[in-house]
Amino acid sequence: MKNSDCILFLVFLLAYVPDMQAQNTGNVHIIPKPLELTLTNGAFEIAPNTRILVSPDAEQVGMYLQQLLEPPTGYMLRVDVLQDELSLENTIVLELDPTAAQHGEEGYALSASPDAVVISARTAAGLFYGVQTLRQLLPPQVEERSAVAGVTWEVPGVEITDRPRFPWRGMHLDVGRHMFPVEFVKKYIDLLALHKMNTFHWHLTEDQGWRIEIKKYPLLTEIGSRRAATPFPSDRNRLDGQPYGGYYTQLEVREVVAYAQERFITVVPEIEMPGHSVAALASYPELGCTGGPYQVRQYWGIAKDVYCAGNEKVYAFLEDVLGEVMELFPSVFIHIGGDECPKDRWEECEKCQAMIAKEGLADEHELQSYFVTRMEKFLNSHGRRMIGWDEILEGGLAPNAAVMSWRGMEGGIEAATMGHDVVMTPTSHCYLDYYQSQNREEEPPAIGGFLPLEKVYSLEPVPAELPADKTRHILGAQGNLWTEYIPTASQAEYMAFPRASALAEVVWTTPGMREYGDFIERLPSLLKHLDGLGVNYRPLLK
Ligand code: ACM
Ligand code: ZN
Repeated sequence: MKNSDCILFLVFLLAYVPDMQAQNTGNVHIIPKPLELTLTNGAFEIAPNTRILVSPDAEQVGMYLQQLLEPPTGYMLRVDVLQDELSLENTIVLELDPTAAQHGEEGYALSASPDAVVISARTAAGLFYGVQTLRQLLPPQVEERSAVAGVTWEVPGVEITDRPRFPWRGMHLDVGRHMFPVEFVKKYIDLLALHKMNTFHWHLTEDQGWRIEIKKYPLLTEIGSRRAATPFPSDRNRLDGQPYGGYYTQLEVREVVAYAQERFITVVPEIEMPGHSVAALASYPELGCTGGPYQVRQYWGIAKDVYCAGNEKVYAFLEDVLGEVMELFPSVFIHIGGDECPKDRWEECEKCQAMIAKEGLADEHELQSYFVTRMEKFLNSHGRRMIGWDEILEGGLAPNAAVMSWRGMEGGIEAATMGHDVVMTPTSHCYLDYYQSQNREEEPPAIGGFLPLEKVYSLEPVPAELPADKTRHILGAQGNLWTEYIPTASQAEYMAFPRASALAEVVWTTPGMREYGDFIERLPSLLKHLDGLGVNYRPLLK
């Protein structure tokens, strides 16, 4: 070995050996893997008279913990505001320390000893993630929603310090192709919380269905939420003849957003434009280039009919829609789709061609860029930021837009290099609608592809070729659940889990500590929690 190699080797040992020891964690199995975890002696036992002590600004987290523990234990633990306690014996402490900079925005420390469990963090979100770790430290029966007899509610002695790698840890759900009840959306959000994910991307409008009530345009749901038929999952070229529909009222949307907020999850709404908009055109045909008539689309795939980019009415309509959407969703980011917008109609449309001439645009790609940039200005003027699929790069990216890179990592690399924020969702690693096995006949019909658990786990969201000063633009990554071939909640669970569990570790855990074999060893413990929650995940040995 050269001297320099020796030094490198020593640095490697110093850097990794303490971690390796920390990974000797007996049967304490947490997903996503915490940054530092050490086993200590003894255990804490939750008893009927255990108290939850909470810093004044974190009572929400205290109540969440109380409500998590009450059904399975049968104990309604007292929640008190943390004051200058004489003794912390028999308490679970949730302590905010705004000066604890080492925890960042979402990190925490958790210490469990026979006396007390103490979770400390700089923010309430950090405390919430500490509570999620506590949940995984408890017996999996903690997930049961009715009293479980004969369980000792024991937390092993541990010292944990933990914080996430990325600020965007997301899962997406397409409710356009198939509709999912509010109860399932909440369950999905709960599962994200268990995995310390913080972003729920709700894909609300599609060619095949408009799923959000907009007060100013009632036909969007009266007409746009219903289609006459759906392709058979087993034969995508044949329709089932069964009318299909549904939508979320604004009241339901508010309920979901509030539910997510209690779990420190931001709901990012997606309103698709200029493509994937046939359901809106069926409702208001004057918004299309030809004026229709249009039908809510029944087949999957990409439609040629899109919003007319040369018609002022379209911009006014979309601003009205986004106005109501911003009222409902406090998310800074609003997703405007932007993917898969064929230019056929624009090429033939007088209004679109007139807009190209008036604005001095080179072609229809620049017209799409004009469209997106105009919508971005509107969002920015309301203090929001735009995010869109990577096609929004075509014809020039809107000045402040963030990009969701799905056709690979390239769009993300291009955007980040230009200084734009990026969320990585490449089909290669993040499309959870793809098959999980090469034995397709043993799986429910899926859209295609092959994305096994290990491949999801191998995603590295920060591309090696990205210059070091641009890596901060990679906000994180997200799993996408498109539902053309996912007609039921139970199948959505089957496709999402445990692949979303793998992705949760990708976006949370420090890269040097990620190892697939180790993940697979920890996974059965998490799956027991999913059993308790009644999740129809895909079994490991199928
Ligand atoms: C997409 O999958 N069309 C974003
Ligand atoms: Zn047009």
